[in-house]
Amino acid sequence: MKQIFILFTILSLSLFAIANESKICQQCHPIIYNEYYKSSHRKASVVNNSIHKAYWEKHPKDDKSYTCAKCHSPSDKKLMQTGILEDNDIQKDEPISCVYCHTIKNVDSGKMSNTNIITDKNKEFFSAETSKKNLNTAKFEIESSWFGLVKKSKNSPYHKIDYSNENYYNGNVCMGCHSHTNNEHDFDIVMLDALIDKDDKNTCVTCHMPQVLGSKVTINKTKTHAFHGIAGIYHMNKEMGKYIDFNVTQDNSGFHIDVINKSNHALFGQALREGKLKVSIERKGKTITLKPFVFTRILAKDGKETMPWNATATLKDTLIYAHKKIDFTETLQKGDILTLTLGVQLLTKKGAKALGLEKNEEVSRFRILKTQKFKF
Ligand code: HEC
Ligand code: HEC
Ligand code: HEC
Ligand code: HEC
Ligand code: HEC
Repeated sequence: MKQIFILFTILSLSLFAIANESKICQQCHPIIYNEYYKSSHRKASVVNNSIHKAYWEKHPKDDKSYTCAKCHSPSDKKLMQTGILEDNDIQKDEPISCVYCHTIKNVDSGKMSNTNIITDKNKEFFSAETSKKNLNTAKFEIESSWFGLVKKSKNSPYHKIDYSNENYYNGNVCMGCHSHTNNEHDFDIVMLDALIDKDDKNTCVTCHMPQVLGSKVTINKTKTHAFHGIAGIYHMNKEMGKYIDFNVTQDNSGFHIDVINKSNHALFGQALREGKLKVSIERKGKTITLKPFVFTRILAKDGKETMPWNATATLKDTLIYAHKKIDFTETLQKGDILTLTLGVQLLTKKGAKALGLEKNEEVSRFRILKTQKFKF
């Protein structure tokens, strides 16, 4: 009974608090909300992300309109209509809100970028749960048993849930923003190159929103919930290493490292990003450090390196697609220990300088994804 009373208090409170809808979700989904608040989706706006801010400040502005909003702050409805960027609470607290993601009905393909189609139903959210996939409007119910002595509730008193949308099962819900971002010259500056295949064992959601401990809701407790902090470069980067394998072989010309990517997209393709493989050999008590291999994509115009908004071509592409083989001329000897460390930094050195962020240590910090030792 106490629980039901709390429910109705929350419901009446929420009527007055529509301004920040994610805050309403927080009342029943506090763990998910707290993760979301630290996520790169909550931090995707100019006010919350210093790289985005620097990038937008340097970006040419012909008609004053802030075109980035489509993916970086679609929940700022006023901005979406006017194109004028203003510092406000939505930019700060929910540029890509809970409601926004959970109301993406479909994704339309487009030449410059894809577009999310939002449902027009109010307080009805999409979600995925295989055992309920046939339920398209799960409504709140209170079940009584033991002649009304024990009451149990089902589903949410605040909203309906539609479990039947395939996009939430195969990861396509992410592709309205993550498929491709073309600049004015029709050149894709975010090389994710993702391919969703129904036979894939993992999806965007299982890898980047893995089930972690803690209940998804305060009512009807569950053991785990989908991680809304988004595993990636900013969070849980070491756990992401399990989706990358190293294969080492040796022949007459030297040794070879094959970096195998088990995800369904290219790695390190965001403009100005840089992945790095550090290689060292321990031999007879000494450490030999070899030249690291850099994974990046250098964007160009007229054969010269340029900023992403000017780019019309690729000068160099050393990204990891399905796999990447790297050759070394050294010969490994019996007793050698080879250490491989794969990591990523947010910006290349040149990129940090061009954006005026060379003093910001966060952007050049080497974030380790995987370390492995091989004995010979
Ligand atoms: C009054 C409490 C309450 C509020 C407020 C609330 N929810 Fe829920 N929500 C629930 C309950 C209860 C469930 C059902 C969980 C179950 O039965 O498995 C649920 C389920 C969900 C699910 C589906 C979970 C699944 O099973 O896959 C989503 C998505 C969701 N809520 C999103 C939201 C969003 C977004 C907001 C804010 C706009 C919100 N909720 C606000 C109580 C609430
Ligand atoms: C079609 C959707 C889309 C549009 C439009 C878009 N972006 Fe992005 N942007 C993304 C996605 C998705 C990512 C994350 C990609 C990744 O991490 O690989 C991203 C990442 C970034 C990053 C890297 C952030 C970080 O923390 O490292 C910057 C900077 C950025 N975008 C700037 C902009 C600017 C400035 C504009 C407008 C001129 C813009 N973007 C327009 C989708 C978009
Ligand atoms: C409304 C657009 C939008 C949608 C929908 C969206 N994203 Fe993003 N995502 C972004 C933007 C923009 C960024 C870059 C944020 C920033 O500026 O750092 C981003 C960043 C990321 C990153 C990089 C985080 C890191 O630490 O490296 C990952 C991973 C990611 N999103 C996964 C997903 C997944 C999985 C889904 C689907 C469940 C999804 N996104 C849905 C816009 C979106
Ligand atoms: C980037 C898009 C995105 C954002 C932002 C987002 N969600 Fe989700 N959420 C998802 C996806 C996709 C799933 C489906 C995961 C699954 O169940 O497989 C999900 C699952 C859930 C679930 C069910 C959890 C589970 O373990 O099944 C709840 C509840 C939920 N979200 C609530 C919220 C709340 C509350 C917020 C804001 C604080 C929020 N979501 C923000 C994409 C998002
Ligand atoms: C098998 C696991 C797996 C799957 C499936 C997967 N990813 Fe990733 N993703 C990774 C790994 C590993 C990385 C690299 C480590 C990192 O950047 O955190 C990564 C990196 C990313 C990044 C950051 C790239 C950058 O350099 O900024 C984005 C954005 C992203 N993934 C989005 C997606 C989307 C969208 C999907 C679905 C189409 C998806 N991922 C599917 C494992 C996966």
